[in-house]
Formats: sequence, structure tokens, C-alpha cells
Amino acid sequence: MNLIFIGAPGSGKGTQAEILKSKFNYNHISTGDLLRAEVAKGTELGDRIKGLIDGGKLVDDSTVLELFQSNLNVANQKYIFDGFPRNVAQCEMLSRNVLDGVTYKVIYFQIDEARVVDRIINRRIAPQSGKIYNLITDPPKNEGVCDVSGEPLVHREDDREDVVKNRIAVYNDSIKEMLSYYEKLGLLFKLDASMKPENVSTELINLI
Ligand code: AP5
Ligand code: MG
Repeated sequence: MNLIFIGAPGSGKGTQAEILKSKFNYNHISTGDLLRAEVAKGTELGDRIKGLIDGGKLVDDSTVLELFQSNLNVANQKYIFDGFPRNVAQCEMLSRNVLDGVTYKVIYFQIDEARVVDRIINRRIAPQSGKIYNLITDPPKNEGVCDVSGEPLVHREDDREDVVKNRIAVYNDSIKEMLSYYEKLGLLFKLDASMKPENVSTELINLI
């Protein structure tokens, strides 16, 4: 069974995907991570993507789909899709181009907007190991470096408070329509994402 995680920026999609990946052998595919990897290559496409991400806007659907598909093997692997789809056009693309004949559940990470801003501005990430930290609630053992890989931690450019507000507004533009799309298909499962990470994990495992 594949899983699609949808929810606000900072709702904990990446954190829970990494936990499930290590417990149940899922592949975690995050379009945000794929896009940031493209930016890091410094290509022309990467520069264009960087402008959009740093402004808190969505990257165009076809660019994201292309990147996404070239990193998938749904016939032989089970996945957690994190950050894709993000609007109904992407939901349709996903069911038509990727998930035709494949079973999946959609998990909605439900949380109040007010709670995510603090989480995001204190986030630090380790791009190579995929580990996600929080300076307040889940800091690394040694300041500024990843516990697993020893790489320097990164503060995402789009995790500045002004950009976070734009990202939340973009999210609010499409979430209701997406929820009703998956609700009609009987694929939507709601998760209380405001609890402590370990409690969110327990509830998530019960749902799947
Ligand atoms: P993306 O990287 O996907 O960002 P996002 O959707 O905004 O989600 P986040 O990664 O910010 O949050 P998360 O839910 O993963 O939270 P996390 O677990 O890290 O996308 C970035 C950009 O790329 C987009 O804005 C867009 O420009 C572009 N993009 C991506 N996909 C696209 C698409 N399909 N189409 C078009 N454009 C696309 O947790 C956050 C923090 O909270 C961490 O510090 C963590 O330690 C902490 N935390 C986690 N869980 C808890 C908890 N339960 N309690 C307390 N703290 C917690
Ligand atoms: Mg994430």
C-alpha cells in the first residue's frame, strides 16, 4: 500500500515519512527535496526553481511531475509521496500517470496554522541523510551538525517567517478542493498532526 501525505508546511510530513521509512521499508519521495537537489546542481532549471521556492510559490505542475516520475518505480517498490500532489491538477496527473492500478491511502496531516510557523522557523535539515531537526524540540547533539552523517545543517531559504506566510496562503488556496477530491474517492484519512511526534506516529501506524 502506497501513501500520500498532504498537509500544511510544517505539519510534520517529512518527519513522519522518515520514521515510517525506517520502520516499514518505505521509500520516501519528497518533491521539495527533489526540487532542492535540482537547485543545488546550479542548472538553469535549478535557478528558475529556486526563484519560485524562495518566494513561497509553487513550481509548475509539469516540471514537478517530470522530476517525480524519473525517480519512481511503483511496480516494484512502496512509496510515501510527500508534497505531491499539491492541487487538484496534480491529483489528476498522479492518478492518471503514476498510480493507475496501484493501491494507496491519502493521509491528511491536520493542524492549526498558528502552530506550524514556530516549527518551521526553528527547523534545520541535513540534505544528505534526510534527517530533520528542530532547534527547540529536537536539536542535534552537536550544534550545527547532523547526528547521523556529520554534515552541516541547513536552514532552508524558504523557512523565513515572511516566506512561510506565503507558503501557507498557497496551501490554503488548494487544500479544500484536494480534500474533497480524495474524500469522494474514499481514500482520505485524517491524522491529528498537532501531537508530539511519537504520538502522531502511533496514530499514523494505526491508520495504515
Ligand atoms: P516542501 O519541501 O514539500 O515543503 P512543505 O510542503 O512546505 O512542507 P515542509 O517540508 O515545510 O513541512 P513538513 O510537513 O515536511 O514538516 P517537517 O516534518 O519538516 O516544498 C517546498 C517548496 O517546493 C514548495 O513551497 C514549492 O515551492 C515547491 N514544491 C514542492 N512540491 C511541489 C509540488 N508538488 N508542486 C509544486 N511545487 C512544489 O517538520 C517541520 C518542523 O517541525 C521540523 O523542525 C520538525 O522537527 C518539527 N516537527 C515535526 N513534527 C512535529 C511534531 N509532531 N511536534 C513538534 N514539532 C514537530
Ligand atoms: Mg517536508
